[in-house]
Amino acid sequence: MYTAKALFAYLDHAADAAAIFNDHQTNMTKQDAAAVVSAYDFRECARVVDVGGGHGALTAAILKACPWTTAVLFDRPAVIEGTRERLHAEGVIDRCTCIAGDFFDSVPEGGDAYVLKDIVHDWDDDRAMAILRNCRRVMAHTPVTTTRVLVVEKVIPPGNAPFLGKLTDITMLLVTGGRERTAKEYEALDRGGLGPDANCPNHLPCKRDRGGPRVGKDVVTNGEDGEVARRLPVR
Ligand SMILES: C[S@@+](CC[C@H](N)C(=O)[O-])C[C@H]1O[C@@H](n2cnc3c(N)ncnc32)[C@H](O)[C@@H]1O
Repeated sequence: MYTAKALFAYLDHAADAAAIFNDHQTNMTKQDAAAVVSAYDFRECARVVDVGGGHGALTAAILKACPWTTAVLFDRPAVIEGTRERLHAEGVIDRCTCIAGDFFDSVPEGGDAYVLKDIVHDWDDDRAMAILRNCRRVMAHTPVTTTRVLVVEKVIPPGNAPFLGKLTDITMLLVTGGRERTAKEYEALDRGGLGPDANCPNHLPCKRDRGGPRVGKDVVTNGEDGEVARRLPVR
């Protein structure tokens, strides 16, 4: 079986495939970004850390929507040069620090919000919890108790109805050894990774339709394919 580690190691040495992967991810995230910005209140975030942020489509959207915010985008060394170029082209590079590293070693300190979009689903439970634990570790150094982890994934709903996440679940199984998860499975993961008192009350379904995100005013409703932003206060 393929694992995400093997996939990303391969992309390190296959520039053409890496370009396709990064562009595909950027295009998908551009469609989701407005919904995330709409679903989550970034007003209290002076610094957002985008963990495994790729080429920065979500970071750029957050920075454009929230002029008071700065960002740190953290990703693998092979990715980060492309990130700088794209954030420069988006006109937000002056408010973003791009840092290369491995989230299994550590993640940058100092965020008010740690955003993980399409990260957790790449990995099995043990590795997903290892990434969350590394977020938790640096958050413990932050003197602000309101630091958040924001996990953006397709949460599998109950029942047997068609749902986009069920297809990407199969893709994850085949390509990375990861999986899509139900809300209960995320809650178990959060407790294992962020600690027993990780409090995850909010599932904020983002309004979407087949044509991409449709941003409501204050109301955010569950879209057909149900991308969900989850807000996990950690005390
Ligand atoms: C599925 S992509 C998601 C990218 C971005 N968050 C988005 O939604 O567009 C997974 C990202 O995780 C990054 N990644 C994988 N392994 C990593 C590691 N060990 N340390 C840091 N980043 C890693 C990849 O380079 C890639 O950008």
